[in-house]
Amino acid sequence: MVERETWATRVGFLVAAIGSAVGLGNLWQFPFKTAANGGAAFVVFYLIAVTLIGFPALLAEFVVGRRTRRNVVGAFEDLGGPGWRVVGGVALFTGFWILSYYNVVGGWVLRYVLGSATGAYFDDPGAYLSAVASGPEAVAAQLLFLAMAVGIVAMGIENGIEKATKVMVPSIVVLMLALAAWALTLGGAADGLAYFLSPDVGSLVDNAWTVVPDAVGQAFFTLSLGMGIMVTYASYVGEDDSLPVDGGVIVVSNTLIGVLAGVVVFPILFAEGIDPATSGPTALFEAMAAAFASLPAGRLLGVVFFGVVALAALSSAISLLEVAVSYATDNTDASRPTLAVGAGVVLFLLGLPSALDTGEPGGFSAWFVWFDAIAYKLLLPLSVLLVVVFVGWVLGRDAVAELREGSPGSDGLATVWLWTLRLIVLGGIIVTLRLGIGSLFLAEDAAFFAPF
Ligand code: PFF
Repeated sequence: MVERETWATRVGFLVAAIGSAVGLGNLWQFPFKTAANGGAAFVVFYLIAVTLIGFPALLAEFVVGRRTRRNVVGAFEDLGGPGWRVVGGVALFTGFWILSYYNVVGGWVLRYVLGSATGAYFDDPGAYLSAVASGPEAVAAQLLFLAMAVGIVAMGIENGIEKATKVMVPSIVVLMLALAAWALTLGGAADGLAYFLSPDVGSLVDNAWTVVPDAVGQAFFTLSLGMGIMVTYASYVGEDDSLPVDGGVIVVSNTLIGVLAGVVVFPILFAEGIDPATSGPTALFEAMAAAFASLPAGRLLGVVFFGVVALAALSSAISLLEVAVSYATDNTDASRPTLAVGAGVVLFLLGLPSALDTGEPGGFSAWFVWFDAIAYKLLLPLSVLLVVVFVGWVLGRDAVAELREGSPGSDGLATVWLWTLRLIVLGGIIVTLRLGIGSLFLAEDAAFFAPF
């Protein structure tokens, strides 16, 4: 077994974890899910879900990782015995599943950076999207994106992930702030912000049952939970770091960047008279592209916007790849680069259906939607549920002890955390999972059977 690396600095860990959390979930899915779920009402549910469910669950993953310093499968085995390996196995599988189609979108984003620079989509954003988002071009772009992630992970924790994210994450923050400042000067700023930030209480209440699972799923996705990432990243953290403080920094930064994404996207769409509610997943690409095509300095803005999205997607993808590579390095003698390439090949193959199948012309891939629905409605809540049951009810007081390491004086808080995990988080996930399974398998238009 190859010797384990650690983060060179605490900031290195924080930045890498923020890089993992901030990704397509914030910059792309969050705005379009907000739009699809009636605007600001969704934002309210999302913020509640992040605070009450996501944050405690994040700490649960941290505890498992730091206590064992093992890969995600080995960590659960160490703490609970061989039977609990399954929790790590589900997380590993969920991560692979999600990364397979995440790479595909990462590839589209790279194409949009290029398309902005050359103005390729300026005449017909719809046609550009159809060409980019399906078939051989999508496969080639997926491969390029994946190769970048493999390259970084192959270089290791300190020299690869830590160094890369230390450049990427500050760049994302600075460029997003610049874009937001500019978006706020547009004619659509007031309407865009109102749509995004003033909730309509009536629709909040009416839509609670459909919005809750989306909001909770989004909270898990955006905090990179249920995929073994935070277990793995915390396995490289020292005992004198305060996990609650680090977790708080990650949650707050991630949320602020999500909100910033809305502050950028909605004013642009409103300024261009594009209705966000009709814009759906790919249409957001189309809508943003259409906006850049008609805005002054659109090429530059397009390169910056899609460039930020690409950086964010890449710093997330490397975190997921690291989960698999860390599992493999803990269990074999093969070198890190070999294992990173091996994982890349499997991911490439698993992503092919999402890259190739476009569904309706110019629309969204039928397989893509299928992969995404299974991830959100089933795999993520199931995986987090297993972690929470394990940490809350099996580890119990040991988990509290680990949380307190490096955070003197946090005894009372740690106990509150344990009970929040045991009751609120568990309850929230069970409801989410039940609703998710309903819409995946039982509803009239059950998402699971859609492509068949
Ligand atoms: N937190 C990431 C995001 O919001 O995009 C979630 C994620 C997805 C991380 C896929 C890593 C990944 F490969």
